[in-house]
Amino acid sequence: MIAAGGADAVNAPCRPDPAEFIRTNMRLAPVPSVPEIRLYTPHPASGLRRLTDPLQGSDADDDTFEADEPEPQPPYWAYVWAGGAVLARQIMDHPQTVAGRRVLDLGAGSGLVGIAAAKAGAREVIAAEIDRNGVAAIGLNAAANDIEITIVDKDITTAPPPPVDLVLAGDVFYGREVALRFIPFLDRCLAAGIEVLVGDPRRNDLPLSRLRLLAEYKVPDFGDAKGAASKPSGVFSFEADNRWR
Ligand SMILES: C[S@@+](CC[C@H](N)C(=O)[O-])C[C@H]1O[C@@H](n2cnc3c(N)ncnc32)[C@H](O)[C@@H]1O
Repeated sequence: MIAAGGADAVNAPCRPDPAEFIRTNMRLAPVPSVPEIRLYTPHPASGLRRLTDPLQGSDADDDTFEADEPEPQPPYWAYVWAGGAVLARQIMDHPQTVAGRRVLDLGAGSGLVGIAAAKAGAREVIAAEIDRNGVAAIGLNAAANDIEITIVDKDITTAPPPPVDLVLAGDVFYGREVALRFIPFLDRCLAAGIEVLVGDPRRNDLPLSRLRLLAEYKVPDFGDAKGAASKPSGVFSFEADNRWR
């Protein structure tokens, strides 16, 4: 337990080093719908909870939290989401989408979409991810696939768009709060002349009125039961809001 103040406030077990944890507890495996790419993948004994809850199996009694360290979120980065899978599949099948272009993988998670872009010939790939464990996974996954990615580990949605030609947003509308954060950023990208592609299995908070369907693929989704049939997920172009013109 962490006390509210005094010396005991920081006297708690520390979180494992993310890169070390991933290398030790996850396995490199091909992505089912994009087997050209291998990712560090969890298995039943991975114990991912130990990354977010240090009391799970920790023996580091003397270590401490950094007082200003943000609380980690669930390990979304550890899984392939249908929105990312469908975008990665589209990019591998249509490399001209990214070839020679500067690309931002927004909400990169494992880095799958950015890795696909780099493999398909993007000139430069930036991956934006705010989860420190995801940031470590992106670095390891990029190295495992022999490509280079620049990682931005800060929330770029409040900043001006980076100098890219294309934003790839794989499954970033997974909740209302995040959707409301990403939409204004994507609008600023459009205003700056940046093309935006979205991959999504039509989750509840997807802004469908702003999207034009380009392609569909049946890909597995995070959370699907083993052996369940894959449902179609879409690759969409994010379009300007013309309602007020
Ligand atoms: C649902 S996961 C999708 C991951 C990956 N794109 C895929 O499709 O497999 C969304 C990711 O967005 C990240 N995220 C949420 N808010 C973010 C922000 N403001 N900037 C960058 N990443 C963010 C989360 O940490 C999470 O890893």
